[in-house]
Amino acid sequence: MPDSSAIRRVHNFSAGPATLPKSVLERAQAELLDYRGSGQSVMEMSHRSPVYDGIHRGLIDSLRRLLGLSAEYEVLLLQGGASLQFSMVPMNLLPAGQSADYVITGTWSKKALAEAEKVGSVRVAGTSAPTSFDRIPNALDPDPEAAYFHLTTNNTIAGTQWARLPSGTAPLILDASSDILSRPLDLTNVGMIYAGAQKNLGPAGLTLAIVRRDLLDRIPDGLPTMLDYRTQAGKGSLYNTPPCWAIYVAGLACEWIEGLGGLEAMETRNRGKADLIYSRLDRGGIYRGTVQTESRSLMNITFRLTDTTLEPRFLEEAADADLVNLKGHRSVGGIRASLYNAMPNSSVKELASFMDDFERSHG
Ligand SMILES: Cc1ncc(COP(=O)(O)O)c(C=O)c1O
Repeated sequence: MPDSSAIRRVHNFSAGPATLPKSVLERAQAELLDYRGSGQSVMEMSHRSPVYDGIHRGLIDSLRRLLGLSAEYEVLLLQGGASLQFSMVPMNLLPAGQSADYVITGTWSKKALAEAEKVGSVRVAGTSAPTSFDRIPNALDPDPEAAYFHLTTNNTIAGTQWARLPSGTAPLILDASSDILSRPLDLTNVGMIYAGAQKNLGPAGLTLAIVRRDLLDRIPDGLPTMLDYRTQAGKGSLYNTPPCWAIYVAGLACEWIEGLGGLEAMETRNRGKADLIYSRLDRGGIYRGTVQTESRSLMNITFRLTDTTLEPRFLEEAADADLVNLKGHRSVGGIRASLYNAMPNSSVKELASFMDDFERSHG
């Protein structure tokens, strides 16, 4: 086996798929050919075997412990990404004759709304579009009769995050793709959480859907089998072949989070890392953050250079220093540093000191 201390690893600020804990990758590497004495790789084993069953249930149990989920919630391991949930949520949970509330805070919530509009009646209960998504809207107008209230907990592209969840709404449905397991979550009034795994949790290919059981009662009959939450809920997410490898690695990542002390410890770590960059932005100079202070994301930090023509140079010199994937989303430009759970503090310090150096030479 190659000596992993000799392998080059960059500081990877990708928004997703994103950096994973090195110890998780090393464990997966060590177990790649022979998973714990089974003589097989997880990629090769039957999803009906007892050995795989331990992996599958292990992830579900870890998620339950980490998020503090009671028996009221089903944990579903699905495929199709968060994007498929944009359609499955209204197909399953928006009964005919009712309407659903959506808060619009950027690209992903707009996409969620657009898919729901194809299925049923929807209403915008708040938006930060007029200020170019630079904040989480304060003024919300929830419909108490709505079937559910959908929001994007962290806006990966805009760089905003809900500091706390709203109250006084219909059951909350949360797209937590880019901040799942990054901080404790208040489950009061949460009807459902969904997330693609590829940012905070593991490899692409796995989508989590955590659904409060009472909501399953409203699913209309006649949905295509694979688009009905009850199909996987009734089969422990083993109705068909699950994304076994992604589930295995996500399980290792959950073990890593538990080993570090769970979600409170994650939040402390994540806050510390984000502060390193936000405090740099707050000093002004050649950098300026793009979002309102109270809406800042701990996961995706978006900023511009006051002289935007210097941004390509910033990205180029950063890449030369092994600080990669810092380009803002193509729809908004600028710079984006994604600091998910697995991003080491040392990499964030490297970025902060690179920003200082760049300012000294180009400011
Ligand atoms: C907040 C959010 N929602 C949804 C998506 C779409 O996820 P997927 O690619 O898993 O469909 C993304 C992807 O980056 C995202 O950041």
